[in-house]
Amino acid sequence: MKKHILVVPGDGIGQEVTAVGKKVLERIASKFGHEFTYDEALIGHAAIEATGNPLPEETLAKMKASDAVLFGAVGHPKYDNDPSAKVRPEQGLLKMRKELGLYANLRPIKLFDELLGASSIKPEILKGSDILFFRELTGDIYFGEKGRKNDGDTAYDLAEYSRFEVERIARKAFEAARTRRKKLCSVDKANVLETSRLWREVVQKIAPEYPDVEVEHQFVDAAAMMLIKDPRRFDVVVTANLFGDILTDEASQIAGSMGMLASASVGDSTGVYEPIHGSAHDITGKGVANPLASVLSAALLLDISFGLKEEADTIIAAVDQLLKDGFRTRDIADATTPADKILNTETAGQELLKRLG
Ligand code: NAD
Ligand code: IPM
Ligand code: MN
Repeated sequence: MKKHILVVPGDGIGQEVTAVGKKVLERIASKFGHEFTYDEALIGHAAIEATGNPLPEETLAKMKASDAVLFGAVGHPKYDNDPSAKVRPEQGLLKMRKELGLYANLRPIKLFDELLGASSIKPEILKGSDILFFRELTGDIYFGEKGRKNDGDTAYDLAEYSRFEVERIARKAFEAARTRRKKLCSVDKANVLETSRLWREVVQKIAPEYPDVEVEHQFVDAAAMMLIKDPRRFDVVVTANLFGDILTDEASQIAGSMGMLASASVGDSTGVYEPIHGSAHDITGKGVANPLASVLSAALLLDISFGLKEEADTIIAAVDQLLKDGFRTRDIADATTPADKILNTETAGQELLKRLG
């Protein structure tokens, strides 16, 4: 198969982990006889430094012309502590999602058995957890009108959802539930928010079209609690942009670390595959970031954008084997991990390539 992949590393550890993700794609291509070509483009702080724009036109054009995008992360400490900065790395990411129509962000929370001990949650609560989040990605409070009034003393962000936006993400989640354990949990705050009441109304209205799927509605505060109390009760979860952002960082602890969580952003145009984590200033440049979220994002890319299921499964099996062999990056290591089994970003890549054959 011939495909063109755009690698967009972005900032901080985004650079470090996508380098490993790309190597894995290259190895898969040679192993299975595919012809993947690659290009790179700037986004975020790196793009602001080079062009003044967090999402240069050239990057957007390259994304639209590619078959898939392997994305890293954006962000720089300079902006995090400067609320007055008008141009920010995150604007590049949000504009990319909007311009490419990436309304569905799939965030699988899959616990590798070997990592049962890496979580702060008790193993007997965790074992067998397997959740697929559908986070709506181009609406909500992220994209509504925002601004200041009263001489800057009052700030506002408008949360908005249309029936159409809720229905298209809900249908994707229902369809996915059908292929899994047939349970869908829709998470909202319908006891308070009008956007959530529309959300619940839409989900209730289309639910009869999926009689084989058992639907449950939860308020977001209770869902946040239930995720930790009993993660196995969840199969597919569908929720709004902001709730999905927060709940999936929380749910990363079910999988052991932020460094394990991949995601797929799909919709109207080129799919973008990215870890759920950010640029991680605290470990940037140290070479210790866990690259497995990027590697597992590469697997999602092959599966979802190219339909290469066997290739994707080969990557997941190699990750599984790496963990079975006792290797750990620092974020998933514990007191029992021998020093010679602790990997950095680069050695994790090398060990993984060995297991890809
Ligand atoms: P973060 O996800 O970057 O880091 C949170 C914590 O998790 C840190 O302690 C970090 O060291 C750890 N961590 C994250 N990924 C890891 C990995 N692969 N291996 C090991 N440890 C890992 O979140 P933050 O610190 O709140 O944000 C830092 C910057 O990233 C901010 O500028 C933020 O805006 C940006 N951000 C970007 C994205 C994105 O591009 N999709 C996502 C989240 C945050
Ligand atoms: C994510 C990030 C982004 C989000 C930020 C950096 C804009 O946290 O991809 O999860 O909130 O969507
Ligand atoms: Mn986030």
